[in-house]
Amino acid sequence: MKIAFIGYGNVGAPLAAHLQNAGHAVTLAAADPGSTKLQAALARHSGLRALAPVDAVREAEAVFLATPFLAVESALAGVADGLAGKILVDCTNPVGPGLKHGLGNAESGSEMIQRLAPSARVVKAFTIYGFENFEDNAYPAYNVKPVMMLCGKDGAAKETVSGLARELGWEPLDVGGLEQALHLEHMTLLWVRMVRMGGASPNLVWAALRR
Ligand SMILES: NC(=O)c1ccc[n+]([C@@H]2O[C@H](COP(=O)([O-])OP(=O)(O)OC[C@H]3O[C@@H](n4cnc5c(N)ncnc54)[C@H](OP(=O)(O)O)[C@@H]3O)[C@@H](O)[C@H]2O)c1
Repeated sequence: MKIAFIGYGNVGAPLAAHLQNAGHAVTLAAADPGSTKLQAALARHSGLRALAPVDAVREAEAVFLATPFLAVESALAGVADGLAGKILVDCTNPVGPGLKHGLGNAESGSEMIQRLAPSARVVKAFTIYGFENFEDNAYPAYNVKPVMMLCGKDGAAKETVSGLARELGWEPLDVGGLEQALHLEHMTLLWVRMVRMGGASPNLVWAALRR
């Protein structure tokens, strides 16, 4: 699959490299060719390519958005038209002062992103943990995979993103429509508050057990 990344820092860079390793054609939307994060991401995998954002998005079938939440508006401004009908994987999390929800729970970040890119098929995924688990999600002492919850209104888009998650070693769990994104954003805050404030180990993931 052709996949573009807008943002390739702590979260985007490992996901881009792992997806390239899994056989996908991954491009990095390079707004600033001199960016140190761009150079570091490219250095991780010789198969990754940098393209101008408009070209990266035009070529892609799915676009991962992994910028700081405050940057999403400017990051999407030049490429929103190119996103028409494409899967937009929202990896961002709106974080406010005191590690509270950055939009005051008025709406989720994903719903705001859907408004900024109305013709994109937004799926919130690859959040709920810190970047350490996007680098390495192996928990070999367990016979279950760590869960990757995702949500969105387009069922086919969620199926595709679930497949990508599965390829990267997660058990995907579709938790519903995009209105569920607010709750996933709180799950991320829960993890972040436990680990970054409370001192818990970042080697901590959730699992889905069924009976
Ligand atoms: N860090 C975590 O553990 C974690 C976990 C879950 C979710 N998240 C969420 O994931 C997102 C990314 O976090 P991160 O830690 O990966 O951030 P990061 O390391 O700071 O990387 C941010 C990336 O976004 C790019 N960027 C910034 N402003 C941009 C703009 N206006 N247009 C295009 N690209 C822009 C940066 O570009 P340059 O290359 O030019 O710097 C960089 O590549 C955030 O929304 C965060 O809340 C983070």
